[in-house]
Amino acid sequence: MNFEKNILCIGAGYVGGPTMAIIAYKCPQYRVTVVDMNSERIAEWNSDDLPVYEPGLDKIVKTVRGRNLFFNTEIEQGIKEAEIIFVSVNTPTKTFGAGAGLAADLQYWEKTARQICQCAQSPKIIVEKSTLPVRTALAMERILTSNDNGIRFDVLSNPEFLAEGTAINDLENPDRVLIGSRQTESGLKARDELVEIYANWVPIERIITSDTWSSELSKLAANAFLAQRISSINSISALCEKTDANITDVANAVGTDSRVGNRFLNVSVGFGGSCFEKDILNLVYLCQNYALHEVADYWASVVKINEYQKNRFVLNMITAMFNTLVGKKICLFGFAFKANTGDTRESPAIFIAKRLIEEKAELVVTDPKALKNARIDLNGIDSNVSYMEDPYEAAVGCHAIAILTEWDLYRNLEFEKIYRSMIKPAFIFDGRNILDHKKLFQIGFNVFPIGKPALTHF
Ligand code: UDX
Ligand code: UDX
Repeated sequence: MNFEKNILCIGAGYVGGPTMAIIAYKCPQYRVTVVDMNSERIAEWNSDDLPVYEPGLDKIVKTVRGRNLFFNTEIEQGIKEAEIIFVSVNTPTKTFGAGAGLAADLQYWEKTARQICQCAQSPKIIVEKSTLPVRTALAMERILTSNDNGIRFDVLSNPEFLAEGTAINDLENPDRVLIGSRQTESGLKARDELVEIYANWVPIERIITSDTWSSELSKLAANAFLAQRISSINSISALCEKTDANITDVANAVGTDSRVGNRFLNVSVGFGGSCFEKDILNLVYLCQNYALHEVADYWASVVKINEYQKNRFVLNMITAMFNTLVGKKICLFGFAFKANTGDTRESPAIFIAKRLIEEKAELVVTDPKALKNARIDLNGIDSNVSYMEDPYEAAVGCHAIAILTEWDLYRNLEFEKIYRSMIKPAFIFDGRNILDHKKLFQIGFNVFPIGKPALTHF
């Protein structure tokens, strides 16, 4: 069959896989190929057990795989055949050299640019999907045009705003699609080609365009603003605990002002995920680079409050449990960085588990989707950790439960049964404020929510 366009995506990760699945699903007239250097990952994409858990993703992949969506490791072949190449390789925080701990590590990005340059035999549109420092497109253009073969490349910025756990809905009904391009004739033409792809299912007024640098910066700024809301509410939760105010009431009162809005004000044990911390640090590094030290410090404080919140949670546990956790058995309800995903990257649960292990506690980790990743995260330090899928079994014989992920499953458990199976006095530390605290207290638990007075029997 002849397809209207050949689209390639390099990087079959959390972003590349679902995004391409939706493009293929919405646009049967295009052939979409996803390549990755990791052959195991590609094998998983071609199996019944996809490497990414997202509600609704399985069904879509089953419908389009082999029809107009293909996964393979033939990167060079893919580059030759495609007219449009999305680049979605990872850009983690640099761990070495200049900017270590802050800047984005662009080695995979640059390697990919060089690969495209070497293999391309015809003009291409290159789309930055990965989150990148501002002006990375310029570096990409320079690499691509370094080979004097006369091939035209247009580099677009098209950051992805999907959130994990809701990726399919976010992709099908995005608040906006952002496309940044050079404001030249060729740049605008490339931009229009990408607009045409999204216009297959996204209303045109939701496809917004800008220059390349604004688009690159918007992605970093959007994530920084979202994370800032969480750190703002989490910082106020600490004050609530000192003053007997209630964070739910405060968040409600603040969020019902339509200028503020009520979303993303859920107090928590801290934010996690592969993006927030990485992108804020990246923003901080950029500001430092331009000697904007006050701006850098402002955004760095969002990460600082997040560290504070995670640490505060552990310290509260230690204090509540008579200042020692040695030999105590603590059950972690949830290890994923948020509900509806198996992803544990930068999950607050990793930090908390490590701190509890340092305190010589024994841990039982339960999570409906993230146990495989939890095992990897705690590999080498988990001689006193066990992993159990069933929360009831996991809680047996424990001194305390810490809710670390807001899985719906945990809201409706039979806590009477759980209480009976635990060591007394039994504690619950609700790091997501999702449980009915009064009811738990009546059952007999000592209950420690976030940003609310504790309910204890002492
Ligand atoms: C993406 C973006 O790339 C990142 O910048 C953004 O902030 C979040 O989303 P994500 O899809 O979550 O990252 O990353 P990951 O799941 O690690 O997927 C990246 C894939 O690229 C991996 O499967 C990796 O094997 C592949 N890759 C990496 C290549 O194929 N080639 C490389 O050179 C490097
Ligand atoms: C985020 C952005 O939302 C998305 O637009 C971007 O493309 C990638 O980064 P993601 O990290 O997948 O998405 O999840 P998100 O829903 O933003 O949650 C991030 C973290 O913040 C999670 O740990 C979550 O539990 C926490 N969170 C979120 C809170 O603690 N409180 C809230 O009110 C919302």
